[in-house]
Formats: sequence, structure tokens, C-alpha cells
Amino acid sequence: MKDKDYISINQAGWNKRAEVHLESEFYDNEAFKTGRSSLNEIEIALLPDLKNKSLCHLQCHFGQDTISLSRMGANTVGIDLSNKAIQIASDLSAELKSNSRFVCCDVYDAPQHLPEPFDIVFTTYGVIGWLPDVRRWANVISSILKPGGTLIFVEFHPVVWMFDDKFEKVQYKYRNSGPLFETSSGSYTENSSDLETDFIFWNHGISDTIQSLINEGLTILDLKEYDYSPYNCFENTIEIEKGKYQIRGLEGKIPMVYSIVAKKWEKA
Ligand SMILES: C[S@@+](CC[C@H](N)C(=O)[O-])C[C@H]1O[C@@H](n2cnc3c(N)ncnc32)[C@H](O)[C@@H]1O
Repeated sequence: MKDKDYISINQAGWNKRAEVHLESEFYDNEAFKTGRSSLNEIEIALLPDLKNKSLCHLQCHFGQDTISLSRMGANTVGIDLSNKAIQIASDLSAELKSNSRFVCCDVYDAPQHLPEPFDIVFTTYGVIGWLPDVRRWANVISSILKPGGTLIFVEFHPVVWMFDDKFEKVQYKYRNSGPLFETSSGSYTENSSDLETDFIFWNHGISDTIQSLINEGLTILDLKEYDYSPYNCFENTIEIEKGKYQIRGLEGKIPMVYSIVAKKWEKA
């Protein structure tokens, strides 16, 4: 498949989702506008001091996390493939008088759009599955980070993506075995039952992701796996503690999220 095919199909899907997500209780944009941070405990615990740091947020959706990070002191740039999401993010930033700036582009084209390297690259929850090649992703991260800069990455665990939507059977391979296609009814927000979208995605095993970062000159400082999701974004979930969701019947049995903190080598 040519790159353009998956890009245009996924862009159309995310454009439809962005507008519906903005109105959802899941994203609760009204509370966000009055100061609620959209960040979760998992990533907050991994973040360094953000005061006056330059930060690039890859696959920022409509910008809540990007703006939350700027509220913590960072100068932030969010990038996303969805022009609708970027328009909403830019409007939100202007309305909230945030310093966050937003750019619409494919992750793989980010270095062309971002001439200055960053202290921090941040990217979380539902990101690399939209990209066919984690080696190219790692190369982008390395090229937009300053030497000594830090990657903060939190992602749903590839084990989660092996299951069918209802978590009744293992449907997909753990590692990348080529593009996967889905016409999905609805989205992960509660208000999306009328949405029909086509998507193309990939599953990436953890060792492929980590080795790609190492090959691009990043040192892994911290690697964690979590047996819950902070988002109630899957079918058939149970809230085991406030804000911690597991799959009913698989409680505590599978990893659901993992995180990586990595540092780009400083040249001697
Ligand atoms: C699940 S959302 C990320 C959610 C995010 N953590 C948040 O703030 O809610 C995935 C995002 O990736 C973006 N995306 C998908 N493929 C992309 C690509 N090739 N380049 C840049 N962004 C992409 C989508 O437009 C979407 O906004």
C-alpha cells in the first residue's frame, strides 16, 4: 500500500472523530477550559520540570494535552494529521490564551515543519498504531530532539490490540505483520454511536519499538507496564479503582499500557 492511501483514509477518519470528540463527556472540554488538566497520573509522574522547556507533542489530537503541558510551564507545539483536530486545537489555544502552537502534518514529515529541536518530545495513548514503521518514527523523534533531550512516551500495550473489540478472542498478531483494516462503528467516546469510519493501523511489539529508539541514539531511562488503562476507552471494562480500567474477565491478567522515558545521547 502506498503511504498516501493510509494517510488520506486515516485523516478522513480522524477528521470525523475530532468534531464528535470535542462534544463528548469523555474529553469534557468545558471542565478543561476552566482549568482541568487532561493529563493522567501515569504521564504526570514521568514528566520532568517543564518550566521554560520547549516541548513537541506528536499526534496531539485537538490539543487538550498540549495546552495542559503549556499550563505546566512548557512552550508547546502540537502536531497532528487531522486538519479538523488542528483547527479546533488552534481555536482552543487562542480562546484560552495559551502559548501552544499547532501544525497539521504527518508525523513522518514533522522534521520539515519543525526547524528548531526540542527539549522534550511527548506522545501518548493511541499513537504508534497509526504508523506503519516504528523505525521511521524513532528517527523522527531523534531528529526533533536536542542532544540531551527527553522522550516521554505512554502507549496502549500491543497485547491489548491483539484482541477483538469485545476482548473475547485473540484476533491479531502481537508484532507488525502488515496493515490491518477496519470499518469501525462508533469511537471511544460515549457520544459516537452514529460514527462510521474506515481505518488502517498496525500493531508494534514492544521490543521493535524499544530497539528502534536505541538504534536512533536514545538511551532508555525508564520502562514500565501497567495492568490498567486510565481511559475508559475499551468495550467490556470494569473500574477497579477511580480512573483505572481493566477488561472484565481479564482483570489483572494482561498489561494494558506501557511507558518509556528515553534520553537522546549528548555528543562528546
Ligand atoms: C488516539 S488519538 C491520540 C489521542 C491523544 N492522546 C489525545 O489527546 O486524546 C490519535 C491521533 O493521531 C493522529 N494521527 C494518526 N495518524 C497520524 C499521522 N500519520 N501523523 C500525525 N498524526 C496522526 C490522529 O489524527 C489522532 O488525532
